[in-house]
Amino acid sequence: MIDLATKLARIGTEPDPETGALTPPIHMASTYARDEAGEYSRGFVYSRLENPTRRRFEEALADIEGGESCAAFSSGMASAMTLFQALDPGDHIVFPADIYFGVRHLATTVFSRWGLKSDIVDMSRLDSVQDAITDRTRIVWAESPSNPQLNITDIEGVAEIAHAASAQLVVDSTWSTPYLMQPIALGADIVLHSVTKYLGGHSDVLGGALVFSEKTTLSERVHELQREAGA
Ligand SMILES: Cc1ncc(COP(=O)(O)O)c(C=O)c1O
Repeated sequence: MIDLATKLARIGTEPDPETGALTPPIHMASTYARDEAGEYSRGFVYSRLENPTRRRFEEALADIEGGESCAAFSSGMASAMTLFQALDPGDHIVFPADIYFGVRHLATTVFSRWGLKSDIVDMSRLDSVQDAITDRTRIVWAESPSNPQLNITDIEGVAEIAHAASAQLVVDSTWSTPYLMQPIALGADIVLHSVTKYLGGHSDVLGGALVFSEKTTLSERVHELQREAGA
């Protein structure tokens, strides 16, 4: 088993199999060539669907978080939006009172028009999380530490409540980073990152990602939306 610090220093920078380059090439192409038989035997067709640069990042982040798969997006908000789009009208989310305002605003304004329901609770109290669960709750959303108040969530406790209700626990782990916490090991089903923050690290990148602990209908829908809608 590779030590986390070693993994963080090296992952995603394996030599390029084609050239041996130690710095991974950034693939700029939007479109890929067919081979002689007209097939895409190398696996890449069009960059919205998949591309080697995004794949390298997704595989690295899935590995670091202990997830089964990862979907990368152009921002943290694009990640949240795609997750909301993967739900059905009438589905219900439990949000913490302190959370990055953009995520809650998106859910309660834009997505309320699409029939998404939500309730806001004091997530430091497990009984208030439990009380907010309905038979349509699909997601319990935690953000730990939260932005801006730096509230800490009992991830294991909230995961237990979510799973008892057949809901999934999403943890926005932007401010923890995978170095300080791996939510999947604590029971989370989905980890969200605003890659724009510590994962990018230098205020020169806007990005987002969702990591899934396992393949589910929701994870499949997110991967489908990533390919088809292109956020
Ligand atoms: C905790 C958290 N989640 C999500 C976001 C949204 O990410 P982005 O700005 O990359 O869209 C932010 C942005 O500040 C954030 O702090």
